[in-house]
Amino acid sequence: MPRPISATISLPSLSHNLGAITHQLSSLSKENTRPTPKVWAVIKANAYGHGIEPAVKAFAQADGLALLDLNEAVRCREAGWTKPILLLEGCFEPADLSVAADYSLAICIHSEEQLRMLESASPAKPVDAVVKLNTGMNRLGFASAEFAPAYRRALGLVDRAVLASVGKMTHLARADDSVDVTLEQLQLFALSTQGLPGDVSVCNSAATLTPQYWLGVPSGAQQWVRPGICLYGSSPFASQSADDLGLKPAMTLRSRIIGVQQVQAGSGMGYGHAFVAPQDMRIGVVACGYADGYPRHAPTGTPVTVEGVRTRLLGRVSMDMLIVDLTPAPQASVGSPVVLWGEGGPSVDEVARASGTIGYELLCALAPRVPKHIKEMS
Ligand SMILES: Cc1ncc(COP(=O)(O)O)c(C=O)c1O
Repeated sequence: MPRPISATISLPSLSHNLGAITHQLSSLSKENTRPTPKVWAVIKANAYGHGIEPAVKAFAQADGLALLDLNEAVRCREAGWTKPILLLEGCFEPADLSVAADYSLAICIHSEEQLRMLESASPAKPVDAVVKLNTGMNRLGFASAEFAPAYRRALGLVDRAVLASVGKMTHLARADDSVDVTLEQLQLFALSTQGLPGDVSVCNSAATLTPQYWLGVPSGAQQWVRPGICLYGSSPFASQSADDLGLKPAMTLRSRIIGVQQVQAGSGMGYGHAFVAPQDMRIGVVACGYADGYPRHAPTGTPVTVEGVRTRLLGRVSMDMLIVDLTPAPQASVGSPVVLWGEGGPSVDEVARASGTIGYELLCALAPRVPKHIKEMS
């Protein structure tokens, strides 16, 4: 029998989360008499740990998929996705352009090197492209002064049938926590792209969930938002939970109690005896450790659910096991179900916060050894 750990990926929850976003986009667009933004569902990093094929199925209503791994993009096509796919980091070498042309993948152009690569290319078929402006993230993209000339060169590649279309994008650094910085980025985007034709794409989850931001993107062209984390039922904001935002957890990490110990006051538990029992206690050993993707830095007190009762992690997380307090669940015994995060347990964001990280990292870090069960659309 395999270890009793598994992750359930809920296609209905993924689809619900996309629906919640698109509903808000379309109703507020109507209210503001603007065209409704289209949605690139961001599915990079194996769909934030949820799996490419499940994401392709669950996000059938999205207008496009955005990711950065060429193999994952090809898998989307093989899974039957016929709508646009955007490679968020573009081509790494000339051979990537042939794959992009063969599989009709849109590419990002974020550097002079990529632009030159395209200028000396002659793909079998022109590809769609999006030129990226650096508005203050200072990661990828052309500086403001370089943007218009780079964009015009990209438009020239349409005439040479290297590119099929050209659009513009940027990425926001602080849409989750700073209105001032975000408005500055939006303003620089509007200024630097003024008068340049083509679709626009700016907003990640935090900005898509903040109408002020996506309504502030220039409306003359088709807008595409690029939500990622919110589609998976995790909040991009520190001060608002996924539940507050009407989002449902799409990944539930479950396991079982595989051992029970009655320990006496003063006994240390696990490696380093990082937790010492203040009184006699009953504790449970759960088949889940950092080799499954559970954060090793989760401290004593991190929430966990046993038999539907919320309790806490005790001491240090081991490679394959962790220890929980059974005081609030005296009926629990070997075989009792445990939810580490997701439906019926703490949210992934609660576990992440306790561990000093973000939900993104925990979802992406789910280990390949954890079997995934897919909850299909009903
Ligand atoms: C370029 C780009 N767009 C969109 C996203 C989606 O961001 P989020 O998951 O915060 O919605 C990311 C993720 O980091 C990204 O790198």
